Amino acid sequence: MNRAVPVEAGPAVGRAVRDRFPILETRRGGLPLTYLDNAATTQKPREVVDALVDYYSRANSNVGRGYYSLSLAATELYEGARDRVRRALNAEHPDEVVFTQGTTAATNLLADTFGRRVVGEGDQVVVSGMEHNSNLLPWRRLCEQRGAELVVVPVNGRGHVDEADFRAALGPRVRLAAVAHVSNVLGTVNPVRAMIADAHRHGVPVVVDGAQAVPHRPVDVRELDADFYCFSGHKVYGPMGVGVLYGKRDLLADLPPYQVGGGTVKGVAHDAPVRHVPVPARMEAGTPDVAGAVGLVAALDFLEGIGWDAVRRHDAELVGHAVRALGGVEGVRVVGDPAADPSGIVSIVVDGVHPYDVGGHLDRHGIAVRSGVHCASTFLDDLGLLGTVRVSFGVYNTVEEIDLLVRALGTLRPGSWTADHPTTRFL
Ligand code: ALA
Repeated sequence: MNRAVPVEAGPAVGRAVRDRFPILETRRGGLPLTYLDNAATTQKPREVVDALVDYYSRANSNVGRGYYSLSLAATELYEGARDRVRRALNAEHPDEVVFTQGTTAATNLLADTFGRRVVGEGDQVVVSGMEHNSNLLPWRRLCEQRGAELVVVPVNGRGHVDEADFRAALGPRVRLAAVAHVSNVLGTVNPVRAMIADAHRHGVPVVVDGAQAVPHRPVDVRELDADFYCFSGHKVYGPMGVGVLYGKRDLLADLPPYQVGGGTVKGVAHDAPVRHVPVPARMEAGTPDVAGAVGLVAALDFLEGIGWDAVRRHDAELVGHAVRALGGVEGVRVVGDPAADPSGIVSIVVDGVHPYDVGGHLDRHGIAVRSGVHCASTFLDDLGLLGTVRVSFGVYNTVEEIDLLVRALGTLRPGSWTADHPTTRFL
């Protein structure tokens, strides 16, 4: 980060970093932007925007495909980004980092390669009941394709998976488990370290969806002993279209390519078997999003430049304030226990008002939140809810913005969704 943010700032991080985010200076319909949908995507600091402009202005070239200096320099930037991600996750080796389009692309890649290898007819795959469709549907489809069974571990009343329930699901037919580190709906945190240890005692590898964790807490894949760990650049202040699949070297090493094409092969002859290059290039067919990787480096530098202590204190302050203040609004209920281990997400329901009406009302006050099922309708079903209104924070949010949200909720009335489509949901 170019500009020092006082690490002791904690709650003041919001004000200290706000001016790094050009979009927060914009107005819509005359209103300032109160952006509280960071779990869907974060805004981008100038450092990231500048890195993208700089890459395309001065460094753009295809990577791994040219013996001229510009291409070699771009390749170095791209491989440098891989090593930067390795460092962020405390992975052992850069070859354990595969660049993808995002978390969804990472889980699909895994289901189609590792999943197909280890899951066969009559086997089981364990997922938690809180999974985002991105860490549910690839495993559900894999089970359908292989004649295997998907076992769903229920979520407890506090909104996370009990380790004991997870352990109980680990029978002799389980070949793979896939769990969210942090719920994208409630912001609650699963005991993934203990779950991974349990799974390993049964010889079961674990895929962790870290999309909502990486922006809010330091993640150490070696300390977790995660077999696979995925996250998205766009939720961690980086560009859209770039994401990461971490995998232990020995598990990734001999997987077949996910997609085939340029960059994945050593050389192709019509009359000889195709020989593939090693992972990670084997998993990155076609031209990669080099600018995305470069932007992700700027984002990780920015976030780590603030410091994890300050980020964690900021999350705790905002989530704590939101839970207290929202709980005091008549008809508003906070779902789960987001303050137990704050991860920047607070989900609420409003008595008698459809979540989409709440979202529309807040939008008229310049406040952006996500409303509905958050790509996790199975979890919402289990919670017995039509949907929620999800308030999610980034490093630039402030307590004053929460107070604005609370005031806006105080003027809420049921709208046309509530009247005309009281049970409709789709987002
Ligand atoms: N997965 C993102 C969310 O939870 C889009 O909103």
